[in-house]
Amino acid sequence: MRIAMIGTGYVGLVSGACFADFGHSVVCVDKDANKIAALHRGEIPIYEPGLDELVAANVRAGRLGFTTDLTAPVGDADAVFIAVGTPSRRGDGHADLSYVYAAAREIAAALKDFAVVVTKSTVPVGTGDEVERLIRDARPTADFAVASNPEFLREGAAIRDFKFPDRIVIGTSDERARKVLGEIYRPLSLNQGPLLYTTRRTAELIKYAANAFLATKITFINEMADLAERVGADVQDVARGIGMDNRIGPKFLHAGPGFGGSCFPKDTRALVKIGLDHETPLRIVEAVLAVNDNRKRAMARKVSQALGGQLRGKTVALLGLTFKPDTDDMREAPSIPLVTGLMDMGARVRAFDPAGMTQARDELPEITYCEDAYHCAHGADALVIVTEWVHFRALDLVRLKQAMKQPVIVDLRNVYRPEQMSESGFAYFSIGRAH
Ligand code: UGA
Repeated sequence: MRIAMIGTGYVGLVSGACFADFGHSVVCVDKDANKIAALHRGEIPIYEPGLDELVAANVRAGRLGFTTDLTAPVGDADAVFIAVGTPSRRGDGHADLSYVYAAAREIAAALKDFAVVVTKSTVPVGTGDEVERLIRDARPTADFAVASNPEFLREGAAIRDFKFPDRIVIGTSDERARKVLGEIYRPLSLNQGPLLYTTRRTAELIKYAANAFLATKITFINEMADLAERVGADVQDVARGIGMDNRIGPKFLHAGPGFGGSCFPKDTRALVKIGLDHETPLRIVEAVLAVNDNRKRAMARKVSQALGGQLRGKTVALLGLTFKPDTDDMREAPSIPLVTGLMDMGARVRAFDPAGMTQARDELPEITYCEDAYHCAHGADALVIVTEWVHFRALDLVRLKQAMKQPVIVDLRNVYRPEQMSESGFAYFSIGRAH
């Protein structure tokens, strides 16, 4: 199959490289000439384990190319995927669809023989209808179908998620579109990836519903963690105890500083707006958003309490800044309100992150950036584990204690066991566990 992938952001680049790896012929298109030039030089604009090798291998094999001009690849394609950004619109939280619609207009001008235009970007219900209308208005005689094929990959595990998916959702009622997409994903059905065919609107809603449900699961266990701290219970065991029930499942029950990233906050906000637009307020999702925002802000108070309620003149060392490990992404990271809160309370902040410091410098210019965990701990009154990078899971506690001014650890990801920490002479505070 011949595929044109519009947008070389996270979803576009990973999907394009994986499709090429299946043996399809893929051209990735982006308006940003610098990005395309970098890709031609073999430089990958995002941090994703394994992506550079995957891109290089498929470029070498002649199955993957990059260009700024969509005319030829769209004209040749069996399927054109729209994988451009849908950021939160400034002011109202709605998804900003201007990039999607601009792509649709350009695709319309370039279509030749039958092609399926597929929205892979996360888009509100009804966007596929609008894309179809736009293309039809621009080219009344063009032969095309519009389908929705949402993406469920996680940053840091994107290639694995793409190649071994729990499901592939294909939203279209057009027979030819079903056939083309069925063929494109055929290699995955060999990996037992089940194809779920739905209507276009249903597929669009599945994406938001999945992210909102996962965000709800995290927020639920975070509230249980607060209660566990008060009543002297252990939230890790609560998560295990409820997760062993097949109806609940063990995943996404890890309590922490609140969810962040480029998807959950943006998509839950957009879903709330979609609900309001259709006179169906989504109270649970609204509550999830509010609870999560409060939680991120509360983390600075947790650090302050660990230091006796006084941060003025104290030095706080943060390990991890990105919203989760294995990414350099700082978008909506819990570290951002944490740093702001700590500084507002008069603390000096030092930090180390294995991949996110370049991005973090733009977002958080006023903190001291360090070379590694031990350099970061130097002279600190408290050390806070903010992101559970593998680098922070087996720290040399003796060395850490020697480096610090006071042996206080606030572990926002429950990486360590409380007993181990008290044996090592640390005052240890974690999430949802009595101390
Ligand atoms: C999320 C979904 O997991 C993907 O399925 C989806 O495709 C993607 O959004 C998207 O819409 O594009 P991602 O944002 O990369 O993926 O990251 P997750 O691993 O889901 O983590 C999101 C946030 O939840 C992080 O801040 C993480 O620390 C937090 N989290 C996750 C918890 O606090 N506890 C958990 O148990 C799991």
